[in-house]
Amino acid sequence: MDAKRSSIPPRLLAWYDVHRRVLPWRALPGETPDPYRVWLSEVMLQQTTVATVRPRFEAWIARWPDFASLAAAPDDAVMSAWAGLGYYARARNLVAAAKAVVADHSGAFPRSEAALRTLPGLGAYTAAAVAAIAFGERAVVVDANVERVVARLFAIRTPLPAARPAIRAAADTITPDDRAGDFAQAMMDLGSSICTVRAPRCLLCPLRDDCEAFAGGDPAALPVKPRKAAKAQRFGTIFWLERDGRVLLVRRPDKGLLGGMRALPTGPWTDAAPGLDQAPAPADWRMLDVSVAHGFTHFDLTLALAVADAAAHQADRQADWWLVDDLASAGLPTVFAKAAAAIRRA
Ligand code: ADE
Repeated sequence: MDAKRSSIPPRLLAWYDVHRRVLPWRALPGETPDPYRVWLSEVMLQQTTVATVRPRFEAWIARWPDFASLAAAPDDAVMSAWAGLGYYARARNLVAAAKAVVADHSGAFPRSEAALRTLPGLGAYTAAAVAAIAFGERAVVVDANVERVVARLFAIRTPLPAARPAIRAAADTITPDDRAGDFAQAMMDLGSSICTVRAPRCLLCPLRDDCEAFAGGDPAALPVKPRKAAKAQRFGTIFWLERDGRVLLVRRPDKGLLGGMRALPTGPWTDAAPGLDQAPAPADWRMLDVSVAHGFTHFDLTLALAVADAAAHQADRQADWWLVDDLASAGLPTVFAKAAAAIRRA
């Protein structure tokens, strides 16, 4: 590390020792981190904010405190507990990785980044984060906060995502051999509290004198974002078929968006106007005059809402008729929970 860069880790770690956030998955100074908690928090934080994750993390830990309990958990319960935390594939991988840890690693994570990467769902980011934070191994951890801090420190002006290799290489040059986990979390805390996307608070920053973007006068302009394509718009209809205080639920096909999840019946989500042609049963369908909007990663969805009472002969069909008053326990993905709430308000 050259002389200029070598000032960065000690300055940042000294700042972290005073300003570190206390978070339920973080060990306090002097404590040994719990690799299970570190891993779980990193997976939860990939698509969700710290504020949202905090209570969800605590509830999860109360139910499945370690690899063994998660490995033995019923799939359905885990999927329900994941609702609202992002892609369900992540939850499936959590269970698969817990099973692999129990079966192949005597119930404990391997320590090295390379060995961690062999486990289901542990990609480059998660393996590096766990190796550094849980085991103190030197690993280069780059999430969106770190990316922003590094792009500014080194005034990397190549637009994202092309800048990623340069950002990673620059992060490697400042990652210390000791306290790599604290260093990574210090970069994250700096990114979320000081080196923010808009209006960074440079006057409070411990790395101001190291920062090329601060010297250049334009830190908020970095990193350069790619120009966003307009998000695709899709439409669909949700069908609420009710009888005797129960509503018809279905299970979505295993492949595809929200695969295998319990759901309200819905036709395909396309760019065509929504209609009643994909109704789950013939009935006297009535369209409500409210709709529900939901943003997925790659498209925005607007759902029309159709309701009907089930005919008596439909009542005894082999089907999942769920108590309307107990819908909260069905583990519906957010988009269906939103639709159910809108229908019940209407
Ligand atoms: N975001 C992702 N991982 C984090 C961590 N360990 N601490 C704070 N924010 C994070």
